[in-house]
Amino acid sequence: MAMPISADQVRSLHPYELRILHTLEHLMKRYEWVPLDLLKSSTSFSEGELAYRLSRLIKWDMVRYRKVPYEGYALIFNGFDTLALRTLSERDTVKALGSLIGIGKESVVYEGLGLTSVVLKFHRVGQRSFQSARITRGYLPEERHMPRIFASVLSAEREYLALQTLHPQVQVPLPIDRNRHVVVMSLIHGVSLNRADLLNPRETLDEILENIHQSFSLGIVHADLSEFNVLMEDGSSYLIDWPQWVETSHPNAEALLRRDVNNLLSFFQKKYTIERSLEETMGAVTG
Ligand SMILES: Nc1ncnc2c1ncn2[C@@H]1O[C@H](COP(=O)(O)OP(=O)(O)O)[C@@H](O)[C@H]1O
Ligand SMILES: [Mg+2]
Repeated sequence: MAMPISADQVRSLHPYELRILHTLEHLMKRYEWVPLDLLKSSTSFSEGELAYRLSRLIKWDMVRYRKVPYEGYALIFNGFDTLALRTLSERDTVKALGSLIGIGKESVVYEGLGLTSVVLKFHRVGQRSFQSARITRGYLPEERHMPRIFASVLSAEREYLALQTLHPQVQVPLPIDRNRHVVVMSLIHGVSLNRADLLNPRETLDEILENIHQSFSLGIVHADLSEFNVLMEDGSSYLIDWPQWVETSHPNAEALLRRDVNNLLSFFQKKYTIERSLEETMGAVTG
């Protein structure tokens, strides 16, 4: 799984190492494994210098090396994280990287300090979901090679677009900035719905359904909603984790919405014995 990013390494990177990361990023649009010769000609570093800098990047798990069928190098997540973090800190969006607050199947989430407390969500599209994304969402190019790092950029772009569309009409984190595969948003201080002990579960359920309704009227279905993707802060609910949203015009939108609503109704039924009809609720959120 993902290694934690070291802020020290990000800061102490040598300009030549940074140049190699940028060059690899660029060339990986064409090569899954960038040939050594191409790296040599693109950077115009001496052989010794290049070998030394690459060995450090490999040691830090920012670059991967493969010997056959030709000597090739690939930028991997730690390196890509580093490039994004440097950009976000140059823009003053992020002044410091804080502690790790969550590792999901599809992301690594850190607290950070910007103007206020922020969350940095590093998207990490996995092989499996990457393939299913190709099939169900159809937004990834079919023919071209698409490394996971670039698939993760698409995922972050999609999440950011949803947050921008929904905020502030829907209670979602405030979108602050995005670079590459990293989304910066406001930090919700609280626990996820599954861990919360609600004082007014009926009101909370109504509020969540109202937010789903509001999203729907803005043209968006979450498509991965459950008690794990709702955060509670001071008795208010926030919907998070948006990369897989679909437009309400998508052929599967209704089925996905039904699944979202059903997940939540089942949760409230089990934990708080609240009975609601799925059909009536579907009518209310799409009405
Ligand atoms: N804006 C946020 N504020 C506070 N915690 C967050 C925020 N966004 C994500 N998290 C935490 O990180 C976890 C993973 O984020 P999420 O967006 O759900 O991605 P994943 O696809 O990996 O589940 C969440 O369950 C939550 O604990
Ligand atoms: Mg989640």
